Amino acid sequence: MIIGSVREIKKLESRVGLTPSSVKEYVSHGHKVYIEKNAGINSGFSDDDYINAGAEILDKAMDVWNKSDMIVKVKEPLEPEYKFFRDGLIIYTYLHLAADETLTQELMKRGVKSVAYETIELEDGKLPCLKPMSSVAGRLGVIEGAKHLQKPLGGSGILLSGVPGTRRANVTIIGAGTVGESAIKMAVGLGANVTVLDINVEKLTYLDDIYGNRVNTLYSNAHNIQESLAKSDLVISGVLLPGAKAPKIIKKEYYKDMAPGSVIVDVAIDQGGSTEVSKPTYHDNPTFIVDDIIHYCVANMPGAVPQTSTVALNNSTIRYGLMIANLGLEKAMNLSKPIKLGVNTYNGKCTCKGVCEAFELEYKVL
Ligand SMILES: NC(=O)c1ccc[n+]([C@@H]2O[C@H](COP(=O)([O-])OP(=O)(O)OC[C@H]3O[C@@H](n4cnc5c(N)ncnc54)[C@H](O)[C@@H]3O)[C@@H](O)[C@H]2O)c1
Repeated sequence: MIIGSVREIKKLESRVGLTPSSVKEYVSHGHKVYIEKNAGINSGFSDDDYINAGAEILDKAMDVWNKSDMIVKVKEPLEPEYKFFRDGLIIYTYLHLAADETLTQELMKRGVKSVAYETIELEDGKLPCLKPMSSVAGRLGVIEGAKHLQKPLGGSGILLSGVPGTRRANVTIIGAGTVGESAIKMAVGLGANVTVLDINVEKLTYLDDIYGNRVNTLYSNAHNIQESLAKSDLVISGVLLPGAKAPKIIKKEYYKDMAPGSVIVDVAIDQGGSTEVSKPTYHDNPTFIVDDIIHYCVANMPGAVPQTSTVALNNSTIRYGLMIANLGLEKAMNLSKPIKLGVNTYNGKCTCKGVCEAFELEYKVL
């Protein structure tokens, strides 16, 4: 198969779909790889690194798109990239289609076979290609939250750990999945008072076993969310219903009980966000204020630390990417249920249940 990777054009996105190590894997299995010039530079990889791994560098993104059977990216294709879509092209990347009807329609209309990292799902419900970026985003969420709690950035002015003789900050983490667990690790490590809410009692039990009385666990319902928010300096939301739009569980009416300058980091923004007022922001202007509450809603948080994120992502995506390249998408999805679940659009149809439900599209079972 001919595989291509292009420079990401999303604002301040510095990751890249393929590392030189992944290129080496594809090439050693007999595939041809094209990389757009300077695509990996912000992740710490020069064109020479890719050439040494066996890739060919092309000057223009257009040539990489047109010559490749499968494009391996990081973020969802943006409007200027739609013109490169064509019948039968495989795009293997994060798509988050439930939050983007236009892209869904374009992929279907142009017959793209799209495989979304975030819906590749194992038998036990785990999402192996979402996990590494969620680990990064959960950790970063606490760092960014702590930063925006500082007074010069508009925050209430509390240090997460406090110091002897002062109170510790209250951090509420909603969703105890990968984002949540990573955020808990950081927030507990920084000495904050941590409360975690989830609808999955098994996860809460696990956290209770691991952290004992260093975290408070609460079942996630409207009452507990409202009460926890009223006491919170920092809220981190990492809720997810796989493939579907994020539930709007943080209501605007709760803000009246919160201290001005408190911060909400809505990590779930890439699935539409979990507050009623969330809208995507970028790294160069990451926050906005509603009712004195600071909202951090960057949809590509791991893009801020590309040297970590690109490698972590490739460690997970290479396995399924290689199966698709070696077997062809059709055989790969028949042999691998996780890959089948990753296919979001196929031959003009929507093949991901959550996406179909989001836009009332006919669901085509593969
Ligand atoms: N903004 C970014 O840059 C970025 C980066 C990585 C991941 N994400 C997003 O973060 C979100 C979480 O990812 P994850 O890997 O942790 O998912 P996950 O599946 O591991 O965890 C999601 C958790 O949410 C819980 N949940 C579902 N509904 C809930 C509710 N009503 N109340 C409380 N908990 C609820 C689930 O039980 C689960 O434990 C996803 O939307 C993902 O796309 C965003």
